[in-house]
Amino acid sequence: MIINTNKSWEFIKTEVTGEKKNVAVITLNRPKALNALCNGLMKELSTALKAYGKDANISAIVLTGSEKAFAAGADIKEMAPNTYSQCIQGNFLNDWTEVARTQKPIIAAVNGYALGGGCELAMMCDIIYAGDKAKFGQPEIALGTIPGVGGTQRLTRVVGRSKAMEMCLTGNMINAQEAEKVGLVSKVIPPDQLLVEAVKLGEKIGTHSNLIVQLCKEAVNTAFETTLEEGLKYERRFNHATFSTIDCKEGVKAFIEKRPAKFINE
Ligand code: CAA
Repeated sequence: MIINTNKSWEFIKTEVTGEKKNVAVITLNRPKALNALCNGLMKELSTALKAYGKDANISAIVLTGSEKAFAAGADIKEMAPNTYSQCIQGNFLNDWTEVARTQKPIIAAVNGYALGGGCELAMMCDIIYAGDKAKFGQPEIALGTIPGVGGTQRLTRVVGRSKAMEMCLTGNMINAQEAEKVGLVSKVIPPDQLLVEAVKLGEKIGTHSNLIVQLCKEAVNTAFETTLEEGLKYERRFNHATFSTIDCKEGVKAFIEKRPAKFINE
C-alpha cells in the first residue's frame, strides 16, 4: 500500500524524503493548539503510520512537530467533558497504542514541548532525538488526572522509578540535556539541524535489511516485556531465524567479499 502524500490532511503533514526516498516524515500540524493531540489528529497519525508501515519503499519514519511544540499533550478541551463511564465504554486512549504497534522504526524528532500525551507519544517511538530547547514532562497531575498512555509505565522503564516518580508527581518539566542524561533522549541537536539529523538516522537504518531491522526492533522491545531469561531465549530464536533469510546470507557474503551488501528484504 503506497500512501497518497498529496492527500489533504487536516492535522498532520506527510512527506517522503532521503536520497533513496525511503524515509517518511510525519509532521504534527496543529500549531494554534501547540499540536494538542485531538482525536482527529490521532486518527490521521494512525492512518499515515499504517500506510507507511505497509509501504515496502519506506525503511523508517520520522515523527516531528513544530519548533515550539512536538505536542503539548492530549487535547484538554476535548477531554474536558469526559466521564468515567464514557472513558470505560469508549476505552479512552486505547487506540493511541497503534503508534507503538508500528513495525517499522519510528524516530521522534522533538523540538519544544513534549508534555503529557506528547511525551508519551515520543516514548512510543523507538528513538528520540531532541532539539536543545526541547522540554519533556508529565503535567497531568496538575489537571487532577494521571498519565494515560505510558507516562507512568514507559517513562519508569526508561528513566527509573525515582525520576519518573518525580516527574509524574510534580508535573515539572525536564530539559533536553537532562532528558539525554537520564536516557530518555539519545541525542541533543541544535533545533534547526534536528530534522536533518533524524532523517539521516532513518537513512542509516534504511541501508540495512528492512526485514532484519523489523526483527531487531521486536527483539529490543521484548526487553521491556519479559524477564531476562525469556528475553534472551526470544533473542536467540530471532538470531537463529535470521540465518534462514536471503539478506543474512548476502550480508555475510558481502563482508567476506569486501563489498557493500545488496539487501532485498527477504
Ligand atoms: N490541549 C488543548 N489545548 C492546548 C493544550 C492542550 N494540551 N496545550 C496548549 N493548548 C492551547 C492553549 O489552550 C492555547 O489556546 P488558545 O490560544 O485558544 O487559548 C494555545 O494552545 C497556546 O497555549 P498557551 O497560551 O498556554 O501557550 P504558552 O506558551 O503560554 O504555554 C504550555 C505553553 C506550557 C505548553 C501550556 O500551553 C500548557 O501547559 N499546556 C498544557 C500541557 C498539559 O497539561 N498537557 C497534558 C495534557 S493531558 C494528557 O496528555 C493526558 C494523557 O496522558 C494522554
